[in-house]
Amino acid sequence: MNWLGLEGKTAVITGGGGGIGQALARAFAGQGARVVLVDRTLERTQPLAAELGNGALALACDLSWPEQIEAAAGRVDKDGGADILVNNAGVLHPGPLDSVSLADWSMMLSVNLTGYMLSAQAFGKGMLARGSGALVHVASVAGSEPQPASGAYSTSKAAILMLSRQLAYEWGPRGVRSNTLSPGLVRTPLSEAFYADATTREQREAMVPLRRIATPDDMADVALFLASPRASYLTGQDVVVDGGLTQSLMGLVPRPGYA
Ligand code: NAI
Repeated sequence: MNWLGLEGKTAVITGGGGGIGQALARAFAGQGARVVLVDRTLERTQPLAAELGNGALALACDLSWPEQIEAAAGRVDKDGGADILVNNAGVLHPGPLDSVSLADWSMMLSVNLTGYMLSAQAFGKGMLARGSGALVHVASVAGSEPQPASGAYSTSKAAILMLSRQLAYEWGPRGVRSNTLSPGLVRTPLSEAFYADATTREQREAMVPLRRIATPDDMADVALFLASPRASYLTGQDVVVDGGLTQSLMGLVPRPGYA
């Protein structure tokens, strides 16, 4: 019944009010974990924490402000600290590299990358002191595959892949694992604009070998495993959860006679 062994653990989820974040929160709470939801505002996280119960906590914290991350971690430490951190908060502003503004570039790196590193430091401090913990960083297939008008976003996601491997190397001897989960196409508020038009949705579905767009629950299920003691010998890895999307490249190349 408790195969994942997450009961009684404290899981901090950044971006806990977003599409994937809410699914993560429900999934961890469903396994008996105590959930701490970190997001810019309490608007979506407070009602969710109340619904989840089991000591669930919602903390307002802008992850581009180091002192706010420190304060959130201090609050969690008062209750014994985090066993698990899911770095999930992210922002995507479109912009090609020939004209992306420095403000947009810096904002995306600040939340998507520096926010992940500072959260790992702040929430990981107690894990290192106790000699046990698990970090799961939500990256993206964009971290490995360039995509149109998303240079800052993709660069931030690529950097997360190395941040996680670096953490795995440095913190492994101290009992803390670090892995990334790279979603493909997931329908959430972040990506909703892409699904407003049915034709675009169908074109997207047709490109995925599993022929569907992921749900946030598809991501949460994998994150549960990565964070759990069932993955206790897994660190420094990237798990691509994309329904096979990134296996499709050669299918785009014209090849007469090989239909
Ligand atoms: P979302 O927009 O629904 O949720 C993102 C959450 O992060 C929001 O609740 C937002 O308030 C929070 N956030 C943003 N900036 C923040 C800041 N400065 N401080 C605190 N919180 C902040 O997006 P979604 O889709 O749930 O994304 C979650 C993660 O998954 C992101 O890292 C995203 O890059 C990644 N991802 C999403 C994909 C998709 O297709 N939806 C595909 C690949 C990766």
